[in-house]
Amino acid sequence: MNKSPIGIFDSGIGGLTVVKAVQAALPFERIIYFGDTARVPYGPKSQITIRKYAADDTAMLMRYQPKIIIVACNTVSALALDIVEKSCGHIPVTGVLKAGARLAAEVTKNNRVGVIGTLATVSSNAYGLAINQINEEIEVISQACPLFVPLAEEGFIDHPATKLIAAQYLAEITQKGIDTLVLGCTHYPILRKVIEETVGPEITIIDSADAVALRTRELLTEAGLLASTRNATTPHLLVSDLPQKFSMLYQLFMGSEMPDVELVEV
Ligand code: DGL
Repeated sequence: MNKSPIGIFDSGIGGLTVVKAVQAALPFERIIYFGDTARVPYGPKSQITIRKYAADDTAMLMRYQPKIIIVACNTVSALALDIVEKSCGHIPVTGVLKAGARLAAEVTKNNRVGVIGTLATVSSNAYGLAINQINEEIEVISQACPLFVPLAEEGFIDHPATKLIAAQYLAEITQKGIDTLVLGCTHYPILRKVIEETVGPEITIIDSADAVALRTRELLTEAGLLASTRNATTPHLLVSDLPQKFSMLYQLFMGSEMPDVELVEV
């Protein structure tokens, strides 16, 4: 089991922000990443569809016998974590949502936390519930930012269109006295610079990618499943569509040469 890979999935490229954080926290682990680029975005879809996709994505990763599964998609973490848990039997599962909620509850000083995410994540109020489970005094104010996903997928990291849309989406939430803002979608750290500039320096940004990477290290350590060899390897990447586009974006976001991407059918 120690030699088995860590399985990570997302609807598209957003989960690469989690891959990067896991590589930093656990440099000697093998990683297998699946991006469901044929069906992205998940955020505007119904709960039934998202739950079906979550089962398919888990089945895809299970073919590679992972020792843990990281749900690098807040939308799936919010609406279908139970499906992932059921589909992978005894293998531990960890999701970005709980890790991000825990970090936000620790960081806020004035107990006012903003959350931005996909329509599905925000409508589910899963962040509000998770944060209030830790501390019921915290007020959670949410805002859906659906256009951030295609902007990230297009690589519009610092584009004027991104700045304009960020100003529109974030105007209201930043007026509500929040001191902490959770990037409740793994695509959003790709646009972090613009988001930070828009909300200003007083608001602390929480990126759940780092939080979930640390949680994964804890879980593997507790289970005695850390890799026993000390060889760093490149992640094994699987996508369900457009591998060429994925490789372009990989270089942009990971800042390193792209390993081979395998096209798979879900
Ligand atoms: N990156 C995903 C998330 O964290 C999903 C974005 C989407 O597919 O809409 O929610």
